[in-house]
Amino acid sequence: MTSALLTAVGLGPGDPELITLKGLRAIEAADLVFVPRSQDGEQSLALRIAQPWLHPERQQVVELALPMTRNPAQLLPAWQGAADHIARCLTDLGKPEPRGVYLLLGDPLLYGTFTYIWGELAAHHPQTKIEILPGVTSFAAAAARAQFLLCATSDRVAILPASYETDAAYLQRLLADYDTVILLKVGPVLPQILTALEEMDLLGSALYAERVGMPEEYIALGSEVRALRDQRRPYLSLLIVRRDGKEARIG
Ligand SMILES: C[S@@+](CC[C@H](N)C(=O)[O-])C[C@H]1O[C@@H](n2cnc3c(N)ncnc32)[C@H](O)[C@@H]1O
Repeated sequence: MTSALLTAVGLGPGDPELITLKGLRAIEAADLVFVPRSQDGEQSLALRIAQPWLHPERQQVVELALPMTRNPAQLLPAWQGAADHIARCLTDLGKPEPRGVYLLLGDPLLYGTFTYIWGELAAHHPQTKIEILPGVTSFAAAAARAQFLLCATSDRVAILPASYETDAAYLQRLLADYDTVILLKVGPVLPQILTALEEMDLLGSALYAERVGMPEEYIALGSEVRALRDQRRPYLSLLIVRRDGKEARIG
């Protein structure tokens, strides 16, 4: 009976230097490096971020194609297949203590793909032990890059995925209850979110951040955000808004 260990490593948002030391050590100790990849053939972003820290001469990279859909009929078999494949690859190494890492952007437990594969592994491959190493989240990195205050003292923060249902009325309710609202997955619905913020006179209190930490990083603040009103932007983007915009930046 082998004692396999799979470590989910949060890589941070894109800059390879934002990987934690523990994450780096887990990557270095791994025999197998599992990375999620969308099925459209694009290179895995997780693989791109971790590339400087990999050792191709002694490690094998296993890409797991996962569908970018909300359709459970497609998702469930993909997660099951990925979990089975991970367990099989670790066993096939023939080592008493095979080590694998599953790499993903930001923090593993913040809307990460690992959650589902973890469930499948726990249910069907309990011999594979799981370890989870946190990572710098996209919104923490965006706030730091832009020097944009997330919260202080007793401020309340809401984190949620933006969607077509996120209209002015909903944002208004959120900003009545929370001092800071963080909207992930915002790019495809950006025009309607910015229109809603404009109605609330809050466009000047927003931070928009895209592909933070990557060579293609783009950050807009205050009046620069206004210019994005008519643009749908990539999925890898987020928006942070403070209800008291004056305090959003210090200095
Ligand atoms: C599936 S969630 C993963 C979140 C990730 N686990 C984290 O800790 O930030 C994907 C969303 O995270 C945000 N995101 C992740 N990486 C990002 C980056 N480098 N720049 C901007 N937004 C990012 C975007 O809102 C994107 O739509």
